[in-house]
Amino acid sequence: MPRALITGVTGQDGLYLAELLLGKGYEVFGLVRGQNNPKRELVEQQVPGVQIVTGDLTDLSSLMRAMTTAAPDEVYNLGAISFVAYSWENARLTSEVTGLGVLNMLEATRLYSGDDLSRVRFYQASSSEMFGKVQQVPQSEATLLWPRSPYGVAKVYGHYMTINYRESYGMHASSGILFNHESPRRGPEFVTRKISRAVARISLGLQDSISLGNLDAKRDWGFAGDYVDAMWRMLQAPAGDDYVVATGETHSIREYLDIAFARVGIDDWSDLVVVDPRFFRPAEVDLLIGDATKARTELGWEPQVSFPELVTMMVDADLDEQRALAGR
Ligand code: NAP
Ligand code: GDD
Repeated sequence: MPRALITGVTGQDGLYLAELLLGKGYEVFGLVRGQNNPKRELVEQQVPGVQIVTGDLTDLSSLMRAMTTAAPDEVYNLGAISFVAYSWENARLTSEVTGLGVLNMLEATRLYSGDDLSRVRFYQASSSEMFGKVQQVPQSEATLLWPRSPYGVAKVYGHYMTINYRESYGMHASSGILFNHESPRRGPEFVTRKISRAVARISLGLQDSISLGNLDAKRDWGFAGDYVDAMWRMLQAPAGDDYVVATGETHSIREYLDIAFARVGIDDWSDLVVVDPRFFRPAEVDLLIGDATKARTELGWEPQVSFPELVTMMVDADLDEQRALAGR
């Protein structure tokens, strides 16, 4: 039975990846940080097969203990401070967790591996946010990185450190440059879930309007369940490498709003959305669209969920959740 260690198991991707690996017969260990972390219960309820180990990406010795306990064949480093807007307010902490945390996890993996440095396969959760002020359209593995946020800068550090460990030590280390991926498990601070939840609440008469920032930003949005499959495929490849994972389509926040409100029978949302400057960012990433040709051809990966299906899935899940919370 193969063994995997997932950092960030309490997050959106961690939960989907744990489900995927358990379904494939893996023994799955999930790193959970902090004392009495409330998200631990979420993992225990939603993916009960996961064995929890405690540790923090900023604490190398805790990661080494986790490696010894899990004795993994595969390490998926998904843990990060992942909310871009928060990264300006907590730039140093973001650098320590999202940037230096990658180095700590690579070191824990290297030291655990001993003389056989290719024995543990390593996945790093890199991000399309690294493209920032995009230098090419669409963005591929060869596109120059130009990050626009402390989060993006920290991800660039982790990305290059992963490549450096592959090149320096011959580790099977892969970096997945994933474009935005969403689901009903998405945190409510991200724009897609903020909208799907608000649309559900507005349609049920529980909320009057929604305040948002820049409605013109465009993202290449896919379904998180499809994207964790790409992570697994990378670690089954003969050697570590870097791959863009994206749908190849881009849509604005306005288009997301159109489909989300239409799902609850509202065609004109202009009076229901308030543009609030508080949600604008010091530097914006205006346009992301990925070219995933390499992942398609080398890994046989294909996204399964379309943009309208994704939006509909999220609104429907939030309608169910809000009805249940309101006792309807
Ligand atoms: P998420 O839901 O925000 O999950 C982040 C995870 O990191 C949580 O489990 C969190 O634990 C954990 N974490 C935070 N600080 C930590 C620390 N100091 N030590 C250990 N764990 C820590 O993010 P996601 O959407 O699942 O994304 C997974 C990864 O992919 C992240 O690295 C993200 O940056 C990257 N990524 C995401 C996307 C996307 O569109 N979703 C795209 C590209 C890349 P707590 O629950 O305890 O806070
Ligand atoms: N969160 C949020 N809230 N974003 C808003 C809002 C709002 O009220 N209004 C407009 N936006 C715009 C943001 O300015 C941004 O252009 C876009 O919506 C998407 O924002 P997020 O959903 O917060 O995601 P992100 O693109 O910044 O970052 C996500 O994707 C990255 C990959 O490109 C995160 O998952 C990152 O962790 C990930 O690396």
